[in-house]
Parts: sequence; structure tokens; C-alpha cells
Amino acid sequence: MIYKLYENLSKEQLKGEYLTLKKEYESFKNLNLKLDMSRGKPCEEQLNLSLNMLKDIDINHFTKTKQGQDPRNYGLLSGTLEAKQFFSNILNVPTEKIIVGDGSSLSLMFDYISMATNFGLLGSTPWNKLEEVKFLCPCPGYDRHFAICELFNIKMINININQNGPDVNQIKELVEKDHSVKGIWCVPKYSNPTGITYKNEIVTALAKLKPAAKDFRIFWDNAYAIHHLSQQHDELLNIFEECEKYNTQNMVVEFTSTAKITFAGSGISAIAASEENIKDILNIMSKRIICFNKINQILHATFFNTTEKLEKHMQNHAKIIKPKFDLILNKFEKELKPLKIANWSRPNGGYFISFNALNGCAKRIYELCKESGVTLTSPGATYPYSKDPKDSNIRIAPTYPSIEDLKIASSIFCICVKLATIEKLL
Ligand SMILES: Cc1ncc(COP(=O)(O)O)c(C=O)c1O
Repeated sequence: MIYKLYENLSKEQLKGEYLTLKKEYESFKNLNLKLDMSRGKPCEEQLNLSLNMLKDIDINHFTKTKQGQDPRNYGLLSGTLEAKQFFSNILNVPTEKIIVGDGSSLSLMFDYISMATNFGLLGSTPWNKLEEVKFLCPCPGYDRHFAICELFNIKMINININQNGPDVNQIKELVEKDHSVKGIWCVPKYSNPTGITYKNEIVTALAKLKPAAKDFRIFWDNAYAIHHLSQQHDELLNIFEECEKYNTQNMVVEFTSTAKITFAGSGISAIAASEENIKDILNIMSKRIICFNKINQILHATFFNTTEKLEKHMQNHAKIIKPKFDLILNKFEKELKPLKIANWSRPNGGYFISFNALNGCAKRIYELCKESGVTLTSPGATYPYSKDPKDSNIRIAPTYPSIEDLKIASSIFCICVKLATIEKLL
């Protein structure tokens, strides 16, 4: 097929192109499809990789931890040493600075914000006693982070993000001058949805911040720490080691989980923070819960009792999902690149492709896809208050659908992108 740049076509030619595409679109619509590329969920094949964790179990592991405690009983609020070691290997943070939680890291983030709001951090004034609390939100970003802020009435400020990471000049200006700026959301590795990993100089600049508010926190959501898609891994600088150089260790709280390593909702999660922050968190946490699910902690630590096993497991995940990313990216390359009407990320890991359409087209693409049976993440979701100022970004989640479904969904998506673009140009 010979592609002509839309910008070089006359109105008549564009209309002709539109009618041809519309016919193709209608034929897909008549198939009454129901395809979903909206949420970054593991597919069944991925979930099956962890099923053996529930098989071949030696019950002796569940009656005594390596340190001699009985994990079936109350106690060990901060987690078993085995589970802390598991996360210590992933995050490269000592076990003393780790708390292991239940199935969701998001709930740990929620709880930490709730703690800051109601009780303050390390003796600071609770945020609900303040006139205004602001968070910096590098965007496009993770919708559920933004939803927590909305719920707690925290004012969100958009921060630009590029291939290197968030705009540290913008961040520095706001954090160091405004004491109502209390936090920043960062997904520093294989970011949701841009797929970028923060460059060393960005991590260092963040560690060097001198916030006006002493209870300012960097929410370091390292959800995709080991979720590589290729052998050439991105490398992320250890922010705690950087903080040590500038004596800012209390400024960072890191989160992660095995939601996309083993079972979403039924994995284990972790907070990593300075010893002072860990103590502060445990103090409040101990009023809410006596201990987390230690049986699950032991299941996980036993299943991944060597680094090699974990690495192999993550390679098996990549083997399943990499072809799905490739399929979509190849489709975009073939169908959209020659037209120069959009750009998109080519991530080395994580769960998403971030797609940027011509300004003003994202909502329309979403609608067209929806009408033809393809569900995308709601347009705007990747921005605070669900408002994408350019109406351009669409988060694509290729992991859950089958390859067959993705072939059809990506074809429909490309047609919808072309239709919406022509509508905009006409
Ligand atoms: C950046 C990020 N953080 C956290 C989560 C949720 O993690 P969990 O299942 O551990 O709550 C997700 C899930 O998509 C995510 O993308």
C-alpha cells in the first residue's frame, strides 16, 4: 500500500480516504466484538506460571520461620525475614528498612496518605489540619494515584515528563518554594504508562531536593522493578543510596508488590523506607492490623528461594507478553508511522504502551473504538482529574487479551486513529 501524508491531501481526497476507512470500520463493527485493551492485567497464561506455588508445598515451612517463629499465629507485623529478604533482593534495600504487606501495594500507598492526613508524618501537622495540600503528578501517569489524591482532596499539579523522567526544574521550583507541596508520585521504572525509566541524573536531582515542607514525600512506586520485556534491562539508580549522600533518606517511601509477578490481589507487597519512617509507619499500622498474611509470605519466599528462580519466572512472563507488545508496535509501525499522525512508546518493560494521537483526537478514538467493541482506557485517565490538556494520550494495555484478539483490536484501533484524525483535519 502507498501511504500519502494526510497533511498533503486535499479536502476531497481526505473525504475519499475517510469513506474507504469507514467501510472497513463498519465491517468490523458488524462482527459485534467485545475486546478489552483497557487495564494492565496479567493474562491467564501468566497467572498459570505461579500455580505451582500452591502445589508441592512442604507444610514444615509453615510451622516455623527460619528465625523460629510460628507464622500461623499473630505477630511479626513487619513481615517474616524470608519475605523481607525476597523484597530486599528486588529493591536493593536492607531488610531492616522493609515492611511486607498483603496483596496490594496501592493499599499501602493509600494507608500512608491516610496516615499523613489524619496523624501527620514523624510528628508533623496532620494534613487535614492544613489549608491546602498539593501533590506533584508527573503525567501521563497512573490513574489510581490520581484517584487517591482526589479522594483526599489533595490538589494535583501536572508535571511534564519526557524520555529522561519528570521535569526536575519544575519540581524543584515547586517543592523548594511551596510548603503546601507534600508529595510527588513517581513510577520510576517502566513507568505507567510511558514505559520510561528515570535516568540517573533525574534520580539524583530528586534525592537532592530541599523541600519547604519537612513532611514532603516522594512516593517511589516501583511496581515494575523487575518486569523486563527484553534481555537489555533498563537500570534504575537506587534512590535511597542517593538520599544517603544528601541526608534526605526520610523524604522517600518506596512501594512494590508481586501483583504482576504471581497473583494480582493475592500476592505480597512491600514498603521500603528509612528506619525512622518504618518505625513511624509501624506505630500507626499496629493500631489497624496485628499482622499480615504470613502464610502467603512464606509461600512466596519458598517459591522464589533463589534469585535465579525469580529471574527465570520473569523471563517466562516476558516470553508470554513480549509478542503482544511486538504485535501492536509492528501494527503501528506499518499502519500509522508512514502517515506521521501519532507517536508512541516502545517500552523495555512494564505493562503499557503510551500512545499520543493528534491533539484533540483521543476522546474521539476512544468513542469510535467503543462503538466497534474495543474498550480502551478512558481518555484523560492518565492525567489528574481525568483531564488530558491536549486530549491526545491513550494508554494501551496489551497483556490481557489473546494474540488473536489483539490482532483484530489493533487493526480496529488503527482505523479509528485514522478516522478521528481525518475528522479533525476536515
Ligand atoms: C504503577 C502502579 N502501581 C501500583 C499498581 C497496583 O499495584 P497493586 O496490585 O500491588 O496494588 C499498579 C497496577 O497497575 C501500577 O501500575
